[in-house]
Amino acid sequence: MDLASQYAAIGAEIRDAVTKVLASQQFVLGKEGAALEQEIAALCGVRHGIGVASGTDALILALRAIGVNAGDEVLLPPFTFVATGSAVSALGARPVFADIDPATYNVTSVEIARRLTRNTRAIIVVHLYGLAAEMDAIREIAEQHGVHVVEDNAQAIGAKYKGRPTGSLGSIACLSFYPTKNLGAYGDAGMITTDSAELDARLRSLRNHGQSSRYNSSEPGWNSRLDEIQAAILRVKLRHLKEWENARRANAAQYSKLLAGLANVEVPHVPNNREHVFHQYTIRAQRRDELQKFLTERKIGSAVYYPVPLHLQPIYAGLRHGAGSFPEAEKAAAEAISLPMFPELRAGQIEYVARSIAEFYGK
Ligand SMILES: Cc1ncc(COP(=O)(O)O)c(C=O)c1O
Repeated sequence: MDLASQYAAIGAEIRDAVTKVLASQQFVLGKEGAALEQEIAALCGVRHGIGVASGTDALILALRAIGVNAGDEVLLPPFTFVATGSAVSALGARPVFADIDPATYNVTSVEIARRLTRNTRAIIVVHLYGLAAEMDAIREIAEQHGVHVVEDNAQAIGAKYKGRPTGSLGSIACLSFYPTKNLGAYGDAGMITTDSAELDARLRSLRNHGQSSRYNSSEPGWNSRLDEIQAAILRVKLRHLKEWENARRANAAQYSKLLAGLANVEVPHVPNNREHVFHQYTIRAQRRDELQKFLTERKIGSAVYYPVPLHLQPIYAGLRHGAGSFPEAEKAAAEAISLPMFPELRAGQIEYVARSIAEFYGK
């Protein structure tokens, strides 16, 4: 990820937007935030967007708003960033893991059906790396059992499933604007999207001390608001998001073409009914750790998202899931490696990465 090249291209627009906020002297819950909420809601194909302080807060508040309480079970994949699980734990609810599809890295409807109990209150799907999960089948199970589907859309803004944008595919969805995300702020920020006016109203109160009107709190809430400077920066970047998304897709296509002949790696699979936004370009690689070392020696950045699935991290040791409990998540954790991916990546750089991988495998 090279944020400097992005800033070089749009720095003047960003500085202009920030200067306007400074001149307005309005820093919290002002017109930039309100405009961003509308623009993001429109992009996600829903009526409401609620700006919050981070993607993690978006998850905690969304779960709280749909009624997840201490002791409830919440289904989620173990192959995700820890925030997906710790948001559940923060409310005193119990994470129940469901394994992933090896082709898409996303939680499967079959696993969800298998792990659902009468205590299940919600299902969190994570659209990992920028690819939507199999939403129809998951939503059908959720509807049958009267539970909510929460989309962890932190990595997939702009992605589509059967022509519909992520962020509109469940009851409620959570975005992260962490700086390295496809739409990244210059600090922490997040948003919740939903079509429900009721959830929108509840969330506006929850993010602002549970106040239903000023100095009149009706329930314990948080201070979790998206500030005006970040909103103004995000609005500038939003104007470029589509072109960046197309560049990411073109970069991914070039990687996949160059790596297609290698038996030792598996390139990302994109089902026909989905549009991937390639937050990450992640391959499965034999001898992954050795490959990563080799790439580092060649000054090629790479990252492993995620080396330890949630069920094997110390935070969930108490749940007593041993190795082998979620075999697909564990296999992905051992094989996945994400290659350099950002819109400004040049064709020659992609060729150098692909050539280096081929050389590693002696091709
Ligand atoms: C899948 C996933 N969920 C949740 C989060 C949490 O978002 P944030 O870092 O904005 O709190 C992130 C990003 O960091 C993420 O990648």
